[in-house]
Amino acid sequence: MASYDVIVIGSGPGGYVAAIRCAQLGLKTACVEGRDTLGGTCLNVGCIPSKAMLHATHMLHEAEHNFAAMGLTGDTPKVDWAKMLSYKQDTIDTNTKGIEFLFKKNKIDWLKGWGSIPEAGKVKVGDDLHEAKNIIVATGSQSSSLPGIEIDEKTVVTSTGALELGKIPKKMVVIGAGVIGLELGSVYSRLGAEVQVIEFLDTITPGMDGEVQKTFQKLLTKQGLKFTLGAAVQAVTTSDGKATVTYKLRKDDSEHTVEADTVLVATGRKPYVDGLGLEALGVEMTDRGQIKTNGHWATNVKGIYAIGDAITGPMLAHKAEDEGMATAEVIAGKAGHVNYGVIPGVIYTHPEVASVGKTEEELKTAGHAYKVGKFSFMGNGRAKANFAADGFVKIIADKETDRILGAHIIGPMAGDLIHELCVAMEFGAAAQDVALTCHAHPTYSEAVREAALACGDGAIHM
Ligand code: NAI
Repeated sequence: MASYDVIVIGSGPGGYVAAIRCAQLGLKTACVEGRDTLGGTCLNVGCIPSKAMLHATHMLHEAEHNFAAMGLTGDTPKVDWAKMLSYKQDTIDTNTKGIEFLFKKNKIDWLKGWGSIPEAGKVKVGDDLHEAKNIIVATGSQSSSLPGIEIDEKTVVTSTGALELGKIPKKMVVIGAGVIGLELGSVYSRLGAEVQVIEFLDTITPGMDGEVQKTFQKLLTKQGLKFTLGAAVQAVTTSDGKATVTYKLRKDDSEHTVEADTVLVATGRKPYVDGLGLEALGVEMTDRGQIKTNGHWATNVKGIYAIGDAITGPMLAHKAEDEGMATAEVIAGKAGHVNYGVIPGVIYTHPEVASVGKTEEELKTAGHAYKVGKFSFMGNGRAKANFAADGFVKIIADKETDRILGAHIIGPMAGDLIHELCVAMEFGAAAQDVALTCHAHPTYSEAVREAALACGDGAIHM
């Protein structure tokens, strides 16, 4: 029986980051992982492979639509599907091996197998029992399907199956216009599939800034995605490798069916805590099946902590990472901290969509007086040169103090641009602070500054 200061269960972005920080802080650390490779959903079947597919298909889109206008002529590239999938796999492999290297470097033991907690202070992996003064549950989440829909990961798939389809479907139905549905819907649309997205609500990407939602839907429609909103999917049946999706339009209760080669079910994810033994231990859960934690990521059972998708809050890799680092610090007797008010969210379509902080809708509901500064990428020279002038930057600031309350960007590199505003918000900056900061020309970042200027006396290039 080995004995550790900390055993982390799960090696996704929350778990492996927690393990590394624990080791850096001098704690004897092990991490339990049952997959063949480290990195969890994000590296193996989520964030990383989907970004590889988004990158490859964006390059194809550029070649098909913009190369000729730049004087780049010749045959448009053809898709070699097997090669594209092996590029995706190589991307996964270099990243998962990277984590293995970091574990070795930090002397973290990888306990291979699926872990459970038979009692506080003990972790069982296979037939081995290990002692741990502290346990961090970082087991992530799994796709949550709809009642009556059977996932076979071939014709009816979750994001996992969608990343390794045998061939590119002619027709794909995506259930759910959230992050996964729109990212993977974009991939297959760019590869030539006819993509129909069926969404229960009347808008895409629920919870996002309303103006961004509208622009985003318009741009995706222009790219060829078809949206059926306000529609509740009732059933999906399969026969001979084809699927039939039945849905009801909420406005008139009319029933419709649509056939597809592939159906992607992207209706959300739920915490993955099966088999850990939490119930027997008396670990308190929320009514949504998340592990309940206090402000220091501790559960109600002494010595057991939980982070990431398994607890409350947005299901985002970077939120899990931050919680992982903070929990390690708490265990080491330091002050771990996560600012939940400044966690960016990014959708890696083209254009990208990124947001942080409050939306206008949230501020209106709260009765908070605010002002808005907006700048279109049409006024940004670099974006125009790069055929990337669709979209805008929107900064929302307190009406009286000018303090930045939220930012929403749809446009080129939005997922990177948002961080300037995250840093500004962490420092409690006013929009004017960003407006007075010199921004290099010509960059996309100038659009951020212009939006900040628009919160005050006005943008220059608009
Ligand atoms: P989501 O919660 O983002 O979207 C699910 C959508 O499905 C919602 O719009 C919902 O209204 C709709 N829906 C639910 N039931 C339905 C029904 N019966 N018929 C039609 N529509 C229905 O969930 P998604 O896209 O599956 O993603 C899961 C999690 O993974 C999210 O928390 C997301 O933030 C995270 N994720 C983040 C990524 C990123 O940061 N780029 C990438 C991929 C996933």
